[in-house]
Amino acid sequence: MVILRTQDEIKSYSLEMKKAGKVIGLVPTMGALHEGHLTLMREAKAKTDVVIASVFVNPVQFGPNEDFDAYPRDFEGDCQKMEKAGVDAVFHPTPEEMYPDGFCTYVNVEGEFTKRLCGGQRPGHFRGVATVVTKLINLARADKAFFGQKDAQQVCVIRRFVEDLAIPVEINMVPIVREESGLARSSRNMYLSAKEKEAALVLSRSLNKAKEAFDGGLTKASAVKQIIVDEINKEPLAAIDYVEIYSFPELEEIEYINREAIMAIAVKIGKTRLIDNVILEG
Ligand code: PAJ
Repeated sequence: MVILRTQDEIKSYSLEMKKAGKVIGLVPTMGALHEGHLTLMREAKAKTDVVIASVFVNPVQFGPNEDFDAYPRDFEGDCQKMEKAGVDAVFHPTPEEMYPDGFCTYVNVEGEFTKRLCGGQRPGHFRGVATVVTKLINLARADKAFFGQKDAQQVCVIRRFVEDLAIPVEINMVPIVREESGLARSSRNMYLSAKEKEAALVLSRSLNKAKEAFDGGLTKASAVKQIIVDEINKEPLAAIDYVEIYSFPELEEIEYINREAIMAIAVKIGKTRLIDNVILEG
């Protein structure tokens, strides 16, 4: 596994691979890797010839009061995991390398849907994501890029600008990787006490209950939503941030679930905010 730290290094690596006729897969991450990230890498390995993973805590997608400095970093540990997952090259630049003096171009997805769900509370977040992902796709000359359904709105944003700007890359969405208990894997799970971890099961449990009702014939979005809300409210340690049902991938309001839709929730368990979602085939 090679480690690339500069734009020039990744550009010459990806050019060499392209010239050799290889299909290049890109897996962007911010590091502190867990089984969710590693599943994206294994999926990329299965679908492409050469996997480039990036480990870059992107300052541009963090708000002024967010945890950029505190974001967990463990590059050595990450490298061991990536090597086992079959990654061929890791791109690990500094912020100055990605955003040198004079940098002033951003990718701004302006659709109303970017302000819903997590976008409402994090203005500028998706602008930072879209900008860095565009740059990573270009540097890696990626044929395919892999993202998790865990951050489903992020996938919607990426699919939108890739289509709008005609970027020649295929976007692959990988299903949410969960612990055996049903809890979606997240770097934030490590902030949970044992009691909170138990309480956090209410996220997947409420979504499963709603999905069962939908599978049983309930299609009115407000009624399905209520099932989720009622289940979460039964858990004393949980506080709802949002519970929404939107069409997918447009993220528009719907009255009835009669096409592909997403049930997306954000819940605070103690001080930790967790997200989860389930996609329904309408
Ligand atoms: P990060 O939070 O490190 O996540 C990297 C990728 O791993 C994302 O595509 C995310 O959806 C996926 N992922 C995380 N947990 C997952 C799980 N339990 N199951 C499946 N996939 C999971 O998302 C980002 O970084 C950044 O915004 C980035 C795209 C790298 C741009 O900076």
